[in-house]
Amino acid sequence: MAKALEGVRILDFTHVQSGPTCTQLLAWFGADVIKVERPGAGDATRQQLLDIPDVDGLYFTMLNHNKRSMTIDSKHPKGKEVLWRLIKECDVLVENFAPGALARMGLTWEKIHEANPRMILASVKGFGPGRYEDCKVYENVAQCAGGSASTTGFRDGIPMVTGAQIGDSGTGLHLALGIVTALYHRTHSGLGQKVDCAMQDSVLNLCRVKLRDQQRLAHGPLHEYSQFGEGIPFGDAVPRAGNDSGGGQPGRILKCKGHEHDPNAYIYFITQAAVWGPICDIIGEPGWKTDPGYATPKARLPHLNEIFTRIEAWTMTKTKFEAMDILNEFDIPCGPILSMKEIAEDEALRATGTIVEVDHPTRGKYLSVGNPIKLSASPSDVTRSPLLGEHNDEILRDVLGYSQDEIAEIADSGAIGAVPTKMAAE
Ligand code: COA
Repeated sequence: MAKALEGVRILDFTHVQSGPTCTQLLAWFGADVIKVERPGAGDATRQQLLDIPDVDGLYFTMLNHNKRSMTIDSKHPKGKEVLWRLIKECDVLVENFAPGALARMGLTWEKIHEANPRMILASVKGFGPGRYEDCKVYENVAQCAGGSASTTGFRDGIPMVTGAQIGDSGTGLHLALGIVTALYHRTHSGLGQKVDCAMQDSVLNLCRVKLRDQQRLAHGPLHEYSQFGEGIPFGDAVPRAGNDSGGGQPGRILKCKGHEHDPNAYIYFITQAAVWGPICDIIGEPGWKTDPGYATPKARLPHLNEIFTRIEAWTMTKTKFEAMDILNEFDIPCGPILSMKEIAEDEALRATGTIVEVDHPTRGKYLSVGNPIKLSASPSDVTRSPLLGEHNDEILRDVLGYSQDEIAEIADSGAIGAVPTKMAAE
């Protein structure tokens, strides 16, 4: 079986998280991703958050699977020459440099399009055109500017960022879709185009239900927010809703057995109207099925704190997994709060390849998240991230057709840096 993107060649000029997330996805689907890094240093994440000295950090290894690494000094004349040869050989150039950095290397869209009219140029920036277009941006800045932080956390607490990297990885996902869309468009137009994703825009796209609520607010209070039932007035902007379920069915995170010593002994519990009867029976309040104060969703709104306190008195008698088993039998929507430790050990996630064990020549074995998108006819495996400059010779020779003498000349010029010491020793 062929991989879905076999034959597509990506010039990967990305670093840190947003861009690498995108190119890793394309690589998993079979694209030949050539990661270009600065000689000597490489992607900054190789050296960040190190758990083992002198070994590529997990930050790097977990975002750069299935890629080849080539070091090129993009400001060196010989390096520029190699880069332009690569531009002619590749289908897509992906980058997430600070605003203006690509143009300062001489790589403008006009020149790229002229050199290779079929090339797609895909970029991540923090902001689109406007007030902040020149800013450097990291994850939490995007979460704050995209509407996520103002709507996350508790109403009476400060804005919160989330652990899910919606600014970086979220934008990488958007960019990957933009690239495959442009590749599809190219099949009939014959031409490449620019694909731009701003991190603020991507976060906002993921927060669109909050912009929905902003507009509903103009027509009255938001009934599904707990504060409505508590009689707390709304302001003029969407408030933070704690752990309320966003879908209109009241939901909360409730303590389970063992919560006194296990910070993740919790369950998400939704009091969906359709299963109100079984919920009442399970928690030992059968009278609430017919009591006019509790029988309908509307009647329950002012009592949600009391109702969830009663449900929690029941969940605290069960572990989160025992509660899941009981509730699932009645199709009561619920979910365990899983720790990263539990996820890492989850047999089902390993069986589907969502959690994979990867072997790395200097690190040894480590866990990673495999491709979460499963295609039925196109396999996707996970191979280790490359060492810095590991594929310099291979790419110069096989992709660009340089002779051994020419390769030696490029190496001597200083444009691609030295071969990594660990590889030289092998
Ligand atoms: N050879 C020579 N120079 C190179 C190079 C190479 N192979 N690769 C990068 N450089 C240079 C760039 O040209 C730039 O030089 P310049 O400022 O003289 O033009 C320099 O390295 C720094 O690049 P920059 O992108 O500014 O890195 P940074 O570490 O200062 O900033 C970010 C990092 C992430 C803040 C910034 O790149 C950014 O805002 N990116 C867009 C948004 C984004 O993706 N953010 C999320 C990251 S997860």
